Amino acid sequence: MKTAATSVLSLGLLIASAAAQSGAGTLFNFVPGLGACGFTNTSDQFVASVSNTTFHSFPGAGANPNANPICTHNLTVSFNGTNVTAQIVDFAVGVPAENVGFSPAAFSEFADTSQGIVQNVTWVIS
Ligand SMILES: *[C@@H]1O[C@H](CO)[C@@H](O)[C@H](O)[C@H]1NC(C)=O
Ligand SMILES: *[C@@H]1O[C@H](CO)[C@@H](O)[C@H](O)[C@H]1NC(C)=O
Ligand SMILES: *[C@@H]1O[C@H](CO)[C@@H](O)[C@H](O)[C@H]1NC(C)=O
Ligand SMILES: *[C@@H]1O[C@H](CO)[C@@H](O)[C@H](O)[C@H]1NC(C)=O
Ligand SMILES: *[C@@H]1O[C@H](CO)[C@@H](O)[C@H](O)[C@H]1NC(C)=O
Ligand SMILES: *[C@@H]1O[C@H](CO)[C@@H](O)[C@H](O)[C@H]1NC(C)=O
Repeated sequence: MKTAATSVLSLGLLIASAAAQSGAGTLFNFVPGLGACGFTNTSDQFVASVSNTTFHSFPGAGANPNANPICTHNLTVSFNGTNVTAQIVDFAVGVPAENVGFSPAAFSEFADTSQGIVQNVTWVIS
């Protein structure tokens, strides 16, 4: 009985983890600086931001954002047949959970930065 209960709990955690690591939403352009991961990055680097929800629900996330394991991962955004990968360095507040951000260098692979957003992208954290 104990074994069965543990298995059900593990399956629930696996589903929760998978749900937090890919999605479909709007890509926004952001200007990097000193981010939540503790790195200082620039607009010409391929770096990414995820929502506060995605950042804090990542497996292993704790109180210290610098120590969040998500900071050792990349975000790949797919749109219109193109995939672009960038290092996760920050999170954004006040955006829907499924939205993701790219620095100008990475965003420009999809659209002019003056456009600000690209709707209906899909993404995966690897
Ligand atoms: C982001 O900044 C960190 C710390 O300066 C650096 O180690 C990392 O390589 C930068 N990322 C990219 C994609 O340039
Ligand atoms: C970010 O998410 C965390 C964990 O869900 C929450 O405690 C915190 O209040 C959120 N911060 C903002 C600014 O939304
Ligand atoms: C993230 O991307 C960089 C550059 O392509 C690569 O060197 C690194 O191994 C990737 N990290 C992960 C966790 O996939
Ligand atoms: C999608 O890609 C095609 C082929 O590269 C291009 O002609 C078209 O403008 C792109 N559409 C969007 C919305 O970026
Ligand atoms: C783009 O990424 C998606 C999701 O990871 C993958 O299924 C697809 O094969 C990739 N496409 C290319 C052209 O690399
Ligand atoms: C994004 O997807 C929604 C829902 O399918 C659709 O209504 C909307 O027109 C799409 N936007 C763009 C810019 O393709």
